[in-house]
Amino acid sequence: MSTNHSVHSASAPGKVILFGEHAVVYGQPAIAVPVAQVRATATVEMAPPGSGLAIIAPDLGKSVSLATAPQDEPLAAAARRTLTHLSASEPDATVTISSTIPIASGLGSGAAVSAALVRALAGFLGHTLEPAQVSALVFEVERIHHGTPSGIDNTVVAYEQPVYFVRGHPADRLSVGAPFALVIGDTGTRSPTRHVVERVRQAWEHSPARYDALFDGIGDIASEARRAIEVGDVDGLGLLMDDNHELLIELRVSSSKLDELVEAARFGGALGAKLSGAGRGGNVVALVEDDTVDDVTEALREAGAVRVICTRVTTTD
Ligand code: MEV
Repeated sequence: MSTNHSVHSASAPGKVILFGEHAVVYGQPAIAVPVAQVRATATVEMAPPGSGLAIIAPDLGKSVSLATAPQDEPLAAAARRTLTHLSASEPDATVTISSTIPIASGLGSGAAVSAALVRALAGFLGHTLEPAQVSALVFEVERIHHGTPSGIDNTVVAYEQPVYFVRGHPADRLSVGAPFALVIGDTGTRSPTRHVVERVRQAWEHSPARYDALFDGIGDIASEARRAIEVGDVDGLGLLMDDNHELLIELRVSSSKLDELVEAARFGGALGAKLSGAGRGGNVVALVEDDTVDDVTEALREAGAVRVICTRVTTTD
């Protein structure tokens, strides 16, 4: 974060879901970690009196003015909610947003953009928001993006910590017994979360018993994974990721490209791998030992991943 008299900027990380996507929408626990290597940044600068608030996001091809943006425009919604929360009137300012997080790929781009904007605008107005406040404001914007978000994306992005998350409960930070490495591979297929979540809901409405059983199974895996992370059982964690991927296939949210990348990561030496986020496209995440990071990265590239990101998971206090 940085301030001088007229400029304030803030950023927020991407995220990856390690366990429990989709089931988390139905009340099951899930685990997500921040991905600091990709970030969204918002910079607020003073504008001439009478200009009002403008938000420009060149990477997203967007330019909106608060005065005229529709209610459901997510960037304007994040700014409006922040101003209401702070009981502040619209400032004369320009917010510029940039992001290295690929959109619609399961890495939390929407939540990170909102979190950076909320923090930067609050900072510009002289306020520092707690992670819980940022998370709550971003959640309201996520509802516009996603319809029925569980709240996991805004939570992990606002706290920038590994979290064990249950819908409707306060954030529960995970302690990490032994740091571990992740390699994240992008299919290059964009897949808006909202559509996939809706398809799963339709399938659940059609076959509730079958889908509830799948969600229960995923929830059990997420609970076991919590223990494995806390005690540093990295081998056990890899197996749980494989199990979770199988259940995601049964939920019909995988794709042949996702399955190919998962297989390639395992073949390259990963301890476990699964799709991450809503599925049908986006990214896979593989758990790897430090000395196989390069092999798994190469295996994912050879299998057609358009981008590979490596990150480490540790507890940061
Ligand atoms: C999206 O990152 C994760 C989903 O479980 C949706 C949600 O939790 O809101 C697919």
